[in-house]
Amino acid sequence: MTLMKAAICTRYGPPEVLEVRDVERPKPKDDEVLVRIHASTVNSSDWFIRSGIPNEPARMRWMMKLMIGVRRPRRQILGLIVAGEVVEAGSKVTRFHVGDPVWAFTKFHLGGYAEYTCLREASTVSIAPAGLSFDEVAAITFGGLLALHYLRKGGVKSGMHVLLYGASGGVGTAAVQLAKHLGAEVTAVCGPDNADLVRRLGADHVLDYTKVSTPPGGARYDLVLDTVGKRKTSALRTACEHALRPGGRVLSVDDGTPQFSQRDLAELTGLAERGVLQPVIDRRYPLEQIAEAHRYVEQEHKKGNVVISVIPATTDAGHYQKEASP
Ligand SMILES: NC(=O)c1ccc[n+]([C@@H]2O[C@H](COP(=O)([O-])OP(=O)(O)OC[C@H]3O[C@@H](n4cnc5c(N)ncnc54)[C@H](OP(=O)(O)O)[C@@H]3O)[C@@H](O)[C@H]2O)c1
Repeated sequence: MTLMKAAICTRYGPPEVLEVRDVERPKPKDDEVLVRIHASTVNSSDWFIRSGIPNEPARMRWMMKLMIGVRRPRRQILGLIVAGEVVEAGSKVTRFHVGDPVWAFTKFHLGGYAEYTCLREASTVSIAPAGLSFDEVAAITFGGLLALHYLRKGGVKSGMHVLLYGASGGVGTAAVQLAKHLGAEVTAVCGPDNADLVRRLGADHVLDYTKVSTPPGGARYDLVLDTVGKRKTSALRTACEHALRPGGRVLSVDDGTPQFSQRDLAELTGLAERGVLQPVIDRRYPLEQIAEAHRYVEQEHKKGNVVISVIPATTDAGHYQKEASP
């Protein structure tokens, strides 16, 4: 039996339920690749799953638990995002070869908090963008996919005025960059420590939700996109939702669970390779400090993304030479 290191979660609960142990390394089936994981991330979804989603309304909580396990996590290795290298390919696999750098949004399969995982060729896995380190690749996956989905849903195009509530988080930092790329005028809402960050990412206007309670000067928006989720709110948020232009809309990242495809990853690859979508990395933790990483992220004030460097960046070379530039 070949062993690997993994963070195991046998019950829902606080960050301490994550325990790093040696477990059996998985073997790929005919239609799977075995990936040596270099990096994963901790996003809101990761700690929601680990905690058993206690703060969601009962109906939503039970729907989610049907997917992730009613009494305990069905998949004991959590971690939604995978960035790594194919080390073995099943006999029916045609899209990938040994040595290929890949990235994946694993949905309920999870598995990112380990040295290895098996991914079905048909799942949301694709060749990773070139020119980025694995840490950077991991950092753009979650926020990039969600931001792309909701900006598309909002029909964002040149000349629109878009208000992004929660512009400094994982989804928010990607949304600022992508909305600017689409030609929108962007107003970013964040806390007092993050104004410079969102300005650097391209925001035209910045509002601090701890100081401002109404959009200034009677500003009006074509789209108000809440990238925080409805648990955290402020007077400013309510005022912005009422400051719409005729035909304007309000969208929240908590409206439904989007499905992502290989095409979405391919679109994100193009944006990342052209430098349109830059990774924003707040902190990196080794796999051994996974509980600490979860503890930090569940405070809900991370700046961009928190990366789990399963293989530390110093040895994270190969296809990827450039280091992160938050
Ligand atoms: N639909 C889905 O399937 C799905 C999947 C995953 C996640 N989500 C949603 O996506 C959201 C964002 O995920 P994420 O990983 O990007 O989260 P995150 O990085 O932790 O971002 C949290 C954001 O919340 C802001 N914030 C914290 N407290 C606030 C307050 N009191 N008022 C206003 N803003 C506040 C933070 O800004 P400051 O630090 O500047 O205050 C930060 O921008 C999650 O909370 C979840 O609800 C939806």
